[in-house]
Amino acid sequence: MSTNIDSLQHETRRFAPSSEFSANAVATAEIYGRAASDPEEFWANQSRELLQWEKPFTRTLDWDNAPFAKWFSDGRLNVAYNCLDRHVDAGHGDRVAFHWEGEPGDSRTLTYADLTAEVKKAANVLTSLGIRSGDRVAIYLPMIPEAVISMLAVARIGAVHSVIFGGFSADSIRSRVDDANARLVITADGGWRKGKVSPLKPTVDDALAKEGDHSVQNVLVVRRGENAIEWTEGRDRWWHEEMATAETEHTAEAFDAEHPLFILYTSGTTGKPKGILHTSGGYLTQTAFTHKNVFDLKAETDVFWCTADVGWITGHSYVVYGPLANGATQVLYEGTPDAPHPGRWWEVIEKYKVSIFYTAPTAIRSFMKTGRSVPDGFDLSSIRLLGSVGEPINPEAWIWYRDVIGAGTAPIVDTWWQTETGAIMVSALPGITTAKPGSAQVAMPGITVDVLTDGGAPVGNGSGGLLVVTKPWPSMLRGIWGDPERFIETYWDKFDQPGATNRRMYFAGDGARLDEDGDIWLLGRVDDVMNVSGHRLSTAEIESSLVSHPIVAEAAVVGAHDDTTGQAVVAFVILRADQEDAQTPEEANGILRSHVSEQIGAIARPRQIFVVSELPKTRSGKIMRRLLRDVAEGREVGDTTTLADTSVMQIISDKLHGTT
Ligand code: PRX
Repeated sequence: MSTNIDSLQHETRRFAPSSEFSANAVATAEIYGRAASDPEEFWANQSRELLQWEKPFTRTLDWDNAPFAKWFSDGRLNVAYNCLDRHVDAGHGDRVAFHWEGEPGDSRTLTYADLTAEVKKAANVLTSLGIRSGDRVAIYLPMIPEAVISMLAVARIGAVHSVIFGGFSADSIRSRVDDANARLVITADGGWRKGKVSPLKPTVDDALAKEGDHSVQNVLVVRRGENAIEWTEGRDRWWHEEMATAETEHTAEAFDAEHPLFILYTSGTTGKPKGILHTSGGYLTQTAFTHKNVFDLKAETDVFWCTADVGWITGHSYVVYGPLANGATQVLYEGTPDAPHPGRWWEVIEKYKVSIFYTAPTAIRSFMKTGRSVPDGFDLSSIRLLGSVGEPINPEAWIWYRDVIGAGTAPIVDTWWQTETGAIMVSALPGITTAKPGSAQVAMPGITVDVLTDGGAPVGNGSGGLLVVTKPWPSMLRGIWGDPERFIETYWDKFDQPGATNRRMYFAGDGARLDEDGDIWLLGRVDDVMNVSGHRLSTAEIESSLVSHPIVAEAAVVGAHDDTTGQAVVAFVILRADQEDAQTPEEANGILRSHVSEQIGAIARPRQIFVVSELPKTRSGKIMRRLLRDVAEGREVGDTTTLADTSVMQIISDKLHGTT
């Protein structure tokens, strides 16, 4: 667990919402009581109120085959229709859906009418390329409007998207394409990042050129970077050419509530990423509900900006589905926060008068480091609410965020959730909750969580343990693509209680503590998953990448504390005997850092690689990462008595400190 419990326990600052904010808030306190008295009925009402069902559902939850849940199962709806046409039909066609800003400063405005028209054409393009309901489409795009248009077009025809973050490597693309048997890849020539064009289509070409057959029939290419690319005749198509000749009308067909909507790969405790499956009606209900209530959305006047890339779950739920289902006006930004200058984000907020801003603690901490003079140079007075997601936010960063970005008055919602949960599960509600810096605080209305001991007993207030969700929820994952066993083992077996009414509980993989008021403080992952800049990485995946390099004999990876990124990847490697003299540790470091970058993506590149001659193992051969973490964080090494060879840690520290 990464966060220091003691320092959090001493956090006593409290921030009650202003009476003005509370008086105008979307959510009022009675919502908790209503939800608690009958959670299923509560979600059914939310779903009816927030969405338009072509065929209304009569059954809310089917948990008979737990942990495989069905929500609203006899209802039918079209997700894209709910995000688009219905707002146009309701007279909001002229409302801006996206103020898009490219990194070099170009921009585009898309109203709901524009976005609907684009998605209809794109849906026709997909159909003309032979994509049918249930087919999988991989999307590897920068943050340009076509990313959102593609996702919605896929959803509109009942196909299933698998968005792959634009920073991932050819290998990562290929393994995702193969796992889901994707028939089509939608990409761009390149996108703008840190002042230059970063190529994308060439990476897709490499992915598809790798050994073995693949399922991809076409690659649809958006022109964005204008970089030179190669072309495979018959397979590759330009987006703009297909769109220019596409039919403009498209009627959205309704699909079952449990029709698959998307697969999103995320790191787990093994080397192979898991394809998290989400379906339609429940997912859209909870993303819309949370977006509206957590962010206090006034769709007519607010400008919402979630800085996440659509390649992550936050981008799926709070750039695409939640906000669009609610008819919100948003900012979509292509580049990095500091290009072409360190105040780029604040300039965007000033330009579009962003009123609700949602970002990750890593970004906040890196702005803190640069200092408040940068944001102070911009007019941020439009901001009225701030959100945080992806990792624990330390109280100091929380206070800085409120003071400097939120003018000392904006409420902050610290939202805990996961790729698997699909939508926010734990968060303050801004007009109701008295905020505590560093705590995610309370379960959303309609959601029940608890903190348990390893043996499954509730820890009670004032103690720490493992976070669980005790009842099924509408936007929960429906499975791991192609691997029902792994789904059960990973999330549901740990706290299976035969005979209990809530027999299956969802194990989130996070440690948490309940304070004296019962508020939740997240303490980080308890498994071999790291959280670097709010991105999930698996120690096993990086270890297997390291050992795939010919100079490496063995590798162990840990997430070490990092002041800016929360955690950083630190690797310990043993080189093959014939390599020990062939490379200096610096050379090995360079070779292996680029190897991991090529194999997985730059986000997985270790911050440090230590070349060692031994790794600490228990008698059963399990690597004791705890001890390596002590070394990586420069601490006194902890208890070594369970090591097979207790002198190993001494050998490692001697080697690292140059005494041998
Ligand atoms: O450890 C928790 C952390 O991020 C993990 C989920 O990562 P991912 O599926 O990539 O989704 C990130 C965005 C929803 C969790 O298991 N996490 C997420 N939000 C918070 C958090 N940790 C503390 N506080 C949060 N608000």
